[in-house]
Amino acid sequence: MKYEKLLKEAKKAKENAYAPYSGFRVGAALLGKSGRVYTGANVENAAYSVTCCAERVALFKAVSGGERDFDAIAVTSDSDAIIAPCGVCRQALMEFSPHMDVVTSNKNLDCETETLDQLLPKAFTGKEMETKSGS
Ligand code: THU
Repeated sequence: MKYEKLLKEAKKAKENAYAPYSGFRVGAALLGKSGRVYTGANVENAAYSVTCCAERVALFKAVSGGERDFDAIAVTSDSDAIIAPCGVCRQALMEFSPHMDVVTSNKNLDCETETLDQLLPKAFTGKEMETKSGS
């Protein structure tokens, strides 16, 4: 499988999840066009809404490190079910690479691959603001 190595990096990243509130550990690995891999795990907070998903942790590490173009992201958890990024993470990723592959998996790394624009059709991109008709 093309993204086996990336999935394994996501599984390893999951080990550092900080998830005392949900008990649900998630790991992500984001592959930059440079070939570099940026990993992330979910980081929860006593004020629940402050929590950051694994996918955005990986994305923000990458972008703040200077990488903005991505080929793929792999995501995994401890669940028997295949998990896909939440809507907020889809939108955050969409800003940079709409056509990237999103590799979703279960705890055994059984996986499915779709593109980000398949997972988030009709996304808000910001281009809409260029055609506004006045305020
Ligand atoms: N979570 C992720 O990190 N990524 C996802 O794709 C889904 C949800 C986290 C957020 C929270 O820490 C826990 O999983 C339960 O929602």
